[in-house]
Amino acid sequence: MPEFPHAMLREIYEQPDALTRTLKAYLSSDGLKADVAAELSSWSNPEGEVLIVASGSSRHSGLAAEITLEDLCGLAVDVEYASEYSCRGGRERRRPSAIVLSQSGETSDTLASLREARRRGHHTLAITNAAASTMAQEADVSMPLIAGAEKAVPATKSFTCQLALLYVLALYEAARLGQMDAATLAAHIAELRKLPASLAAQLDTWRAQMFVLAQKYTNAASFLYLGRGVHYAIAREGALKLKEASYIHAEGYPAGELKHGPNALVSDSVPLVVLATVDRTLEGSMLRYEKTVQLLEDMKTQGAKVIALANTGDEAVKCLVSDCVEVPPAPEHLLPILEVVPLQFFSYFMALEHGVDVDRPRNLSKAVVEQPAG
Ligand code: F6R
Repeated sequence: MPEFPHAMLREIYEQPDALTRTLKAYLSSDGLKADVAAELSSWSNPEGEVLIVASGSSRHSGLAAEITLEDLCGLAVDVEYASEYSCRGGRERRRPSAIVLSQSGETSDTLASLREARRRGHHTLAITNAAASTMAQEADVSMPLIAGAEKAVPATKSFTCQLALLYVLALYEAARLGQMDAATLAAHIAELRKLPASLAAQLDTWRAQMFVLAQKYTNAASFLYLGRGVHYAIAREGALKLKEASYIHAEGYPAGELKHGPNALVSDSVPLVVLATVDRTLEGSMLRYEKTVQLLEDMKTQGAKVIALANTGDEAVKCLVSDCVEVPPAPEHLLPILEVVPLQFFSYFMALEHGVDVDRPRNLSKAVVEQPAG
């Protein structure tokens, strides 16, 4: 077992086990659990509208879920910042089912949003990493992650478990709505079950590679992370992780927005991190990939420095970029769970390069809760 000088590194390594535990809690040996399905049917709304409210990394898993719930179930999903939703007027004619996502289950803005959603009469579901948290207790339905305690301020295993559980939720919804036949459902579950082993097999390779890349890019002033579709969420998460862990500026953008402004920043000191994986069985994923490869060609011509995440053995991407990180194959909506892990390692090693106390970055706390006045 590798050594863990920091909680963040240990928690990155704990992800395969955390995922296995979380999946086990919500899947039976032959598929979906009847009691979970029954609880969810009391939460789901007949119009197929979902509101997701969260902050920080938890909101990023919500962004991925937005695409997954739309693609797999045909649901109409809105994702809100908890800090915004909890302060808005509240005149709403729609009746979405609401999800609050929170590692701690205590973040003040997300808790206020949960209460606001309940006040508006929405059915609420809390996905937290603390089964006894306030959100878990106050929501109509609670689906706790079984990630185990997360000590480092930068979220790692709670994030990948959120992604996995939201994917499971999408499968329950797809089955309930008759959007997926039994064979397709079984195939999705089989792919999901492969993830922990697939991740575990890569950890040491990614650790070694990202250690080297952190040294190579240590002097970069800023990074732009780019992704399309479900991968945009990972671009946002990768950038947030770098900012909070290493104090290096980074932004996550939809890949197609680069040329609408941010490209002016790209230079020797501002490299790109591009999510360029693909699920070749899916037409939409192929289209996204082709557009990404076109962007990489343009960036090569422009002379940009690019770190790409691409499928194992993807020579087309490799020859267009400065550095390529290989990601094992997975279905489109599961790829984010794999992609984010090398980016977590990158942030971790960048933090070490810059002498940051990665488990306790300055000005941040594990849960942003309001202190009582006085
Ligand atoms: C990032 C991070 C924060 C939290 C955010 C919400 O690594 O940890 O952005 O995601 O403060 O916290 P929870 O999920 O506890 O509501």
